[in-house]
Amino acid sequence: MPKKKTKTEEIQEETQESKEEHVEEKAASKKKEKDTSEAKLPSTSRKATPKPKDSSISKNEASQDEGEPKATKLEDLPGVGPTTADKLREAGYEDLMSIAVAHAGELADCSGLAASAANKAIAAARKAMGMGFITGDEILKKRELIGKISTGCKTFDELIGGGIETQCLFEAFGEFGSGKTQLGHQLAINVQLPVEQGGLNGMAVYLDTENTFRPERIKQIATAAGLDPEKALKNIMVARAYTSDHQMLLAEKIDELIRTKKLPVKLIIVDSTMGLFRAEYAGRGTLAGRQQKLNRHLHTLQKLADVHNLSVYLTNQVMARPGIFFGNPTAAIGGHILAHNSQFRVYLRKGKAGKRIARLIDSPYLPEGEAVFKISADGIEEA
Ligand code: GTP
Ligand code: MG
Repeated sequence: MPKKKTKTEEIQEETQESKEEHVEEKAASKKKEKDTSEAKLPSTSRKATPKPKDSSISKNEASQDEGEPKATKLEDLPGVGPTTADKLREAGYEDLMSIAVAHAGELADCSGLAASAANKAIAAARKAMGMGFITGDEILKKRELIGKISTGCKTFDELIGGGIETQCLFEAFGEFGSGKTQLGHQLAINVQLPVEQGGLNGMAVYLDTENTFRPERIKQIATAAGLDPEKALKNIMVARAYTSDHQMLLAEKIDELIRTKKLPVKLIIVDSTMGLFRAEYAGRGTLAGRQQKLNRHLHTLQKLADVHNLSVYLTNQVMARPGIFFGNPTAAIGGHILAHNSQFRVYLRKGKAGKRIARLIDSPYLPEGEAVFKISADGIEEA
């Protein structure tokens, strides 16, 4: 499995990624604007009377009334015929949301639409997705529901404001062996604990892209946490993804799992998030397609986090490159798009005597800092 790349590949990839950074940044900020609004608003704005506002975040913003014509697919957008729609899909714009958050220039380039037509298509897609405003107090109400999952190490928890928060994407990045997968295993156990013990009384979904999920390890950590190891395993739904498309599809299925099977999923682990995307797009001329798909995948995950008030833990393997540690050690590592979409990013590295150091990077409201922890037979612990 080509998950560990050579230095040259990494650098080539980054050069391309940084070119795309501005575009991604804009897309990401637009995406955030939409994310805060869509969970509350009806999905179409065609009705004069809005649906009653509901403080429950489990409301499905995707539920739509039947009957009236409305944009539901690319071909429904003004100026977009089947040929243009195909071109858009080829470029990775597969649904209305991806159009709604797109940049007019990008759309025009890949579809042959004029810039004005691209703008119209974007406006129509936004309308269809019900992107609008909600009041600050509603956001506050929603934020009051945020739960936190303990990492198992108190100083690590303090570093990240008490634990891994729900309603957001939490990214752990670091080189091989830095503890990303171990932390994922620990969180899959800790989410099952009662709230007083740092859990959320919930289940975990583990999207395993590198075949690194180990039930034996789960049993070991669960026992140490005082849980019945067999029950702990039953509270983790594992799916192995073989391609990036498969990974995306599995993420989309989680909503169904929660809604129809009524499973109390409070944590989604994607280990690793980028591995398959990287492997499949390695050596391609352009990364735009990959970035679009990744963006869509992250959007799916963010929406699950918002709608079901759950945490998403993403791992991202990066190469340790001491050369740049004199500058900003974490700038330009890995996919920028992942960085822009994660509200919490923690850089994990190996320390002396088996210790691990977690460093918080670009948190929206917490100071940057470091915490030291250790991986033992019992899982993640104080160093
Ligand atoms: P990649 O997926 O390769 O990028 O690495 P990763 O960041 O996911 O690393 P992972 O979480 O797999 O960490 C592996 C390290 O955890 C090992 O090198 C060990 O130091 C430690 N570890 C894993 N299992 C155990 C265990 O059962 N006992 C102890 N003491 N340490 C363990
Ligand atoms: Mg791993």
